[in-house]
Amino acid sequence: MKLNVLLLSVVVLLTASCSQPSGTVAEDTRSPQEILFEDGNYAMFIHFGLYSKLEGVWKDKVYYGNAEWIMNSGQAGIPIEEYMAEAAGFNPSEFDADAIVQLAKDAGMKYIIITSKHHEGFAMFDTKVSDFDIVDATPLKRDLMAELAEACHREGLGIGFYYSQFQDWTAPGGGRGPQTDASGRPVSFDEYFRTKCVPQVEELTTKYGDIQLIWFDTPGEMQRQYSQELVELVRKNQPHALVSSRVGNGLGDYKTLGDMEVPVSNQEGRWEGIDVTQVGWGFSKYDNEWKSPEFIVHTLVSTIARGGTWMLNVGPDSKGRVSEMAAAALRKSGKWVHAHPQVVYSAGPSPWGHALPWGDAVVQGDRIELIVFDWPVNGKLWVPGLKTPVKSARLEGKKKLSFSVEDGWLCINVPKEVPGEYASVIELTLKGDIDVDGAICADPDRTSAFPAEFASVKDCRIRKSSWTEKFGEWKFRNVAQGFTGSSTVTWTVGFQAPGIYNVELDYAGADPVEWKVLLDGKEALIDWHKVTGAYAWQPLGWIRIETPGTHTLTLLPSSGDMANAKVSSIRVTPIAL
Ligand code: GLC
Repeated sequence: MKLNVLLLSVVVLLTASCSQPSGTVAEDTRSPQEILFEDGNYAMFIHFGLYSKLEGVWKDKVYYGNAEWIMNSGQAGIPIEEYMAEAAGFNPSEFDADAIVQLAKDAGMKYIIITSKHHEGFAMFDTKVSDFDIVDATPLKRDLMAELAEACHREGLGIGFYYSQFQDWTAPGGGRGPQTDASGRPVSFDEYFRTKCVPQVEELTTKYGDIQLIWFDTPGEMQRQYSQELVELVRKNQPHALVSSRVGNGLGDYKTLGDMEVPVSNQEGRWEGIDVTQVGWGFSKYDNEWKSPEFIVHTLVSTIARGGTWMLNVGPDSKGRVSEMAAAALRKSGKWVHAHPQVVYSAGPSPWGHALPWGDAVVQGDRIELIVFDWPVNGKLWVPGLKTPVKSARLEGKKKLSFSVEDGWLCINVPKEVPGEYASVIELTLKGDIDVDGAICADPDRTSAFPAEFASVKDCRIRKSSWTEKFGEWKFRNVAQGFTGSSTVTWTVGFQAPGIYNVELDYAGADPVEWKVLLDGKEALIDWHKVTGAYAWQPLGWIRIETPGTHTLTLLPSSGDMANAKVSSIRVTPIAL
C-alpha cells in the first residue's frame, strides 16, 4: 500500500473512533505511525515462532513461564540441532491472518506487532539469508509475515515486526548462541550482525509495505555502533517507522517499560506498557491463567491515564490458532472499548498524575473522563483536588448527574446500581481550563492507598524492587528501603472527612520491625507483626482524624530488622462507628 493510502486509512480510522473536533487531525504534522502510536493507544503483540510448536512442553516435561525461551539452558536446554530439527514438523496451517486482524479490531486495537524472529533465530518470513525459516524449513511454506502485513494494510491496521537483534541462539556468532560455525571456525558477533541481522532487517523494512515500527529486544552487550546502524537502516527504508527503545544504548523513538509494568505516577514522553493474556508470551499448553476482560479494561485505562500506550500479547498455538479463552476476553473487553472510545483514542493522561481511590481519569479535549472501576454503591463519588468549577457531569454520555462541592471535594450524586460492566465513565465538562491539585487524598467512604513513591523520605531511599513469580512474569514496586533508626517516610494526605481510619502497611522483610506512626508529628500508633519476603498488608491500628484537610502520616522503624524491610504502600480505610 502506498504511504498516502495508509495515511488516509489511519486518519479515517482515528477520526471515526475519536471524538476530536474536526480540523485537529488535518493540521496534525505527525507521521501516520506517530498518530497510531500516540492516539491509537492500544495494540496487539503476537509471539509466534518455532517455540509455539512445543507449547511449553519438551520430552513430556512442562516448563513454566516464557514458553518462547523453552530452548534456553535456563529452561529445557534443547541442543541446537535437535531444536532446529523441530521445524520439519512445524505446520501452523490454521494461522488465519484475517481472523487475527478481525480479533484486533474487535478488541479495539490499532496496530499489530508480531515476532518475525525471536531469540531462537527462526524467521517467520521468507528470508533469503538463511534456510531456518517458515518457508524453507517447514511443511507450511507460507510467509506468515506477508499474510499478516497484507491483511493489516487491507483492513487499516498498522503492522510492525519484533526482531531479536542481539540474541540468536542457533546462528553462529549470535548473542548467547554458538560461537563457531559447523566447521569449527570462530564466528564473531560482527559477522553474525552483517550476515544475518542486518540483511533480515533490510528484508523486513522493504518487503512488507509501510510498517508501524520495528520492535527490537534484549540488546545485551551490543555496542552502540550496532544499535545506531539498525536505527539508520530502519530510517533509510521506512522514514516514518518507529524504533523501540530496546534497540539499546539509549536509542529508539519511544520507551518500552519493563514487561507487565504500569507506573504509579504519570510518565513523560512517548512510552509503551506491555502485558500478556497468559503468563508468558509464547503459547504454553499448561498455562491457563488467562487475563480477564476486567483486567484488560483496567490495565488499558491505567496505562493511558499514566500517559502511555498499551500493547497486549497473544501467543498462537502450534497450529497457529489464537486460544478461544484469550480471543473471548479480547472481544468482551473490546465491547467496552468500542462503547468508550473517548477514554482510549487520543485520550490524554490524568491531570491528577496518579490513580484515584475508585479508578482513574483521562482527558479528552477540554473534558475530564472519570473511569470508575469500583462503583460507589452509597450513591456518592468523591473527586479530590479539582479546582476548575464543573459545568456538567454525565454518566455514560447520557444521564445528567447532580453534584456539590464539600470542603474542596467534588461530590457527584450517582445511581446506587453499578451502571456498567468493568468500569463506568462519568464525563465532566468544566467552566474553564483544567486545573487539578494532584496531592494524595483519603476518600471518606473507601480505602485509599498511598504508594511509597508519594512520600517524602529521610535517611532511607525509594528504589525499584522487581521480581518474577514465574519465569518472565514480572512484578514491580517502588519501595522505601535502607532503613536505619533515624529513617522516616512521610505521606501528606488530604482528608475529606474527620473520623476513625484503619491504617495498614504493605511491606516485605525478613525479621519483624516495630513500626511507629506519627499523626501530624505526634505518636499515634506502635505495632509489630511477623513478616515474610512477600509484600502483604499488615494492620497497624486505628487513628482518629479530628479535622478535614491536610494531615501527615509519618512512618518510622523503632526497632527490629530495619535493614531488610521494604515499604511499598500505606493505606487508610474509614471505619463507620
Ligand atoms: C522479554 C522476554 C522475551 C519477550 C519480551 C517481550 O524480553 O525475554 O521473550 O519477547 O520480554 O517484552
